Amino acid sequence: MSGTNRGWVLESYPIGDDFDAALKLRDIAMPDPGPNQMLVRSLYLSLDPANRGWMMMPTYIPQVPLGATMWGFVLGRVESSNVPGFAPGDLVSGFGAWADYCLMGAEMANKVPDLGGFPLYAAQSLFGLSGGTAYVGVLDIAKAKAGEVFVISGAAGSVGTLAGQIAKIQGCTVIGIAGSPEKCKWLVDELGFDHAIDYRRENVAERLGELCPEGVDIYFDNVGGPLTNSIATKMALHGRIVLCGSMAKFDNPGPELDLGAILLNRVVMTGFILIDHFDRLDVANAALAKWVGEGKLKHHADIVEGLEHTVEAFGRLFTSGAPHKGKLLVRVDPAAN
Ligand SMILES: NC(=O)c1ccc[n+]([C@@H]2O[C@H](COP(=O)([O-])OP(=O)(O)OC[C@H]3O[C@@H](n4cnc5c(N)ncnc54)[C@H](OP(=O)(O)O)[C@@H]3O)[C@@H](O)[C@H]2O)c1
Repeated sequence: MSGTNRGWVLESYPIGDDFDAALKLRDIAMPDPGPNQMLVRSLYLSLDPANRGWMMMPTYIPQVPLGATMWGFVLGRVESSNVPGFAPGDLVSGFGAWADYCLMGAEMANKVPDLGGFPLYAAQSLFGLSGGTAYVGVLDIAKAKAGEVFVISGAAGSVGTLAGQIAKIQGCTVIGIAGSPEKCKWLVDELGFDHAIDYRRENVAERLGELCPEGVDIYFDNVGGPLTNSIATKMALHGRIVLCGSMAKFDNPGPELDLGAILLNRVVMTGFILIDHFDRLDVANAALAKWVGEGKLKHHADIVEGLEHTVEAFGRLFTSGAPHKGKLLVRVDPAAN
């Protein structure tokens, strides 16, 4: 296919969170799908903290090489396809590039299921990565049960909003940790969290001591760093810490966790990555849709308009107290709903 294409090219590795210097919007070639690939028109880009890790180091996927168009999760429409079972016009969600048009390989793309009454962007704000991580983390890894105290950091974000509400549905007492009074109020008033703590203005350990003197049964850790260190001292006997993300480590690598507190309370810590649990996505998506239908779960997306604003928006993920709530998305095609 001919035509113009723009993409965010990684021209240098970011220093700190200076993404503007590292990523440049360039005119790039319209990709030509090879065997088992398809050309996809991007409709939405999912902005995820993990994208930063992919730029910085090899993780569970290879590091993004310099000169490549930055990659991430893309929701789009197939333009042309060499993949059996995928045809022009199909809506797909998968691994692609931050560009107007990208290639998707068969192994990293899924057809978007019938979304019923949900808007298209719910494929990224509710289902898939965010909802799947929240569902698996709360139910399969933490095994949250009624009556337990469930504390979650990054609570007003994409995974946090869903995970906190899922724990509430299980009957837990849910305490969210977020970076502004407005986010804390929203968590309690709109999403039904029992309490919220503003980690930038309050002493988290002290507040936990007041709110749950018997200790924290489950800590769902979205950030790592100093916050995790203080919450680790407040765990209940045989508590569980679910390690979901470590955003704080990008800027603040130390101090190391005090393992003495973990030992004394015989706390179990489990890290997980959703890619090991993709077989649970159908079950997760069905449950998430049901809970929304029953009025028990709310999902929220902050949508940034235009590919050209991608990198500016991406920086908000690493800005404590940034105003966005829920899932941060970029609408690439203005006609997408
Ligand atoms: N394990 C997996 O498979 C998996 C899958 C998806 C995501 N994740 C991880 O889950 C975490 C949440 O992802 P998300 O997509 O839901 O992101 P997000 O919460 O939507 O966005 C990031 C938010 O985290 C807060 N934050 C940023 N830096 C912080 C810091 N140093 N200390 C405390 N809070 C900080 C900010 O809100 P405040 O204003 O509240 O500070 C920011 O808005 C990330 O660590 C991500 O890598 C893991």
